[in-house]
Amino acid sequence: MVQSTTSTNTTSPVATGPAGRAMAQPMDGALLEGLQQHLTMERQASATYWAMAIWFGERELRGFCRYLKGEASNEQHHAGLVADYLVARGQTVLLEAVAPPRQHWQGAEEVFSAVFQMEAEVTSSLQQLYAMAERAGDVRTTVFLDPMVQGQIDSENEAAHLLGRIRFAQANPAAMLVIDGELSEGKHAPESLAL
Ligand SMILES: [Fe+2]
Repeated sequence: MVQSTTSTNTTSPVATGPAGRAMAQPMDGALLEGLQQHLTMERQASATYWAMAIWFGERELRGFCRYLKGEASNEQHHAGLVADYLVARGQTVLLEAVAPPRQHWQGAEEVFSAVFQMEAEVTSSLQQLYAMAERAGDVRTTVFLDPMVQGQIDSENEAAHLLGRIRFAQANPAAMLVIDGELSEGKHAPESLAL
């Protein structure tokens, strides 16, 4: 069980958290535990993307490999943002075990179905954290979560777009190579309808 402790000493009125850093507002215990679990979820997503990058690399689809390698890096960045936030709030960062990721898929469509599902689950986790932060009156955390939720909306949109293009290709090698070439050039987002 994660504890959000507060302590003060006789020479300073400033409260400190478990890491010994100055802490402006104690963190709700359940919210803290949720943030720690979310950090693990981001690290797990990074491992999964890395496994997917390997799967495509083994099949000569370098654009897919490059894209998924970049996503693995993005997820590690997200974990870093959560760690930074916990430190900023005077909390300690608990690193939990990351499970070995899945490494076998039937084809590209199955991989990207898993990508979409994974991104949707990360969004659900953020939504739960958001609700917990609101219940706890923790505005700092809702402000921290806002850009992360926006990032998830973009990630889901991108995953849906790539899954749609893969479905359109119907496993045709020439069509898959077109998508692979696009990903090699960094083209992975849907066209915006906004001017
Ligand atoms: Fe993420």
